[in-house]
Amino acid sequence: MPVTGLRKFEQKVERQIRLFEAGTAIIERKIGRQIKLFEQKRDGIGRKIEQQIRQFEQKHGIRLDDEVRFLRSWFERPLTMGAVTPSGKILARTMARYVDPDSNGPVVELGPGTGPVTEALVRAGVEPKRLVLVEFNPTFCRLLHSRFPEATLVQGDAYSLRRLLETLLIQPAAAVVSGLPLVTKPIRMRMRLIRDAFDLMLPGAPFVQFTYSVAAPLPRRLNGFSVEASERIWMNIPPARVWVYRRPS
Ligand SMILES: C[S@@+](CC[C@H](N)C(=O)[O-])C[C@H]1O[C@@H](n2cnc3c(N)ncnc32)[C@H](O)[C@@H]1O
Repeated sequence: MPVTGLRKFEQKVERQIRLFEAGTAIIERKIGRQIKLFEQKRDGIGRKIEQQIRQFEQKHGIRLDDEVRFLRSWFERPLTMGAVTPSGKILARTMARYVDPDSNGPVVELGPGTGPVTEALVRAGVEPKRLVLVEFNPTFCRLLHSRFPEATLVQGDAYSLRRLLETLLIQPAAAVVSGLPLVTKPIRMRMRLIRDAFDLMLPGAPFVQFTYSVAAPLPRRLNGFSVEASERIWMNIPPARVWVYRRPS
């Protein structure tokens, strides 16, 4: 191709690139506007619900601080939270029942949130100093620290369990109790988490997980693991079931 032809071709390509770039900039601006609108709406809804909760508190003379904290976190990170309210007492007690308070070793809790399951574990006889709490959310971490000062608090990602805990645990864990919204993660991640958990636990120790979903949070037929489930707990919002996995000795 002669030089002038090449130049024309080059100019044509440049024009197309400019047009394309202008097009993507418009699309980006449009998407940005939509995101802003969504965030404004979301914040507005959040504030309205919070106001209603406060009115409810005034009317009934009670405080629902944990519910408000939870709701705020849910609006910020719905998939990470996986629930709009903390677990109710019956669900928390059911989770705690699967942990033997007379066992030896630390009891690890993943995603303790505002601490309803932690509280149930302590009430069931697990010494607070045995608790290792792994929580992502810094606000919840501060709250947990004030409520359970004797527990070991780890602010971090529970899906990196091995890295977080392998040097911290000086003896194998007696149980891992999880409030993580496991079903929002790909099965590969869930399987890695439970395998890492079992590597940190004594043989036969329980991995306790609750879920709102109808399906089990991990496959029912897990090679080398035993699985049991509680009745569905209808007195929880939303109703939930507790699943317990063990790797036999
Ligand atoms: C469904 S809430 C359960 C909270 C509490 N256990 C309860 O029963 O009310 C899930 C909790 O897991 C925490 N979480 C979610 N993903 C996490 C992660 N990757 N690592 C640590 N904590 C996480 C959230 O911050 C939240 O506190």
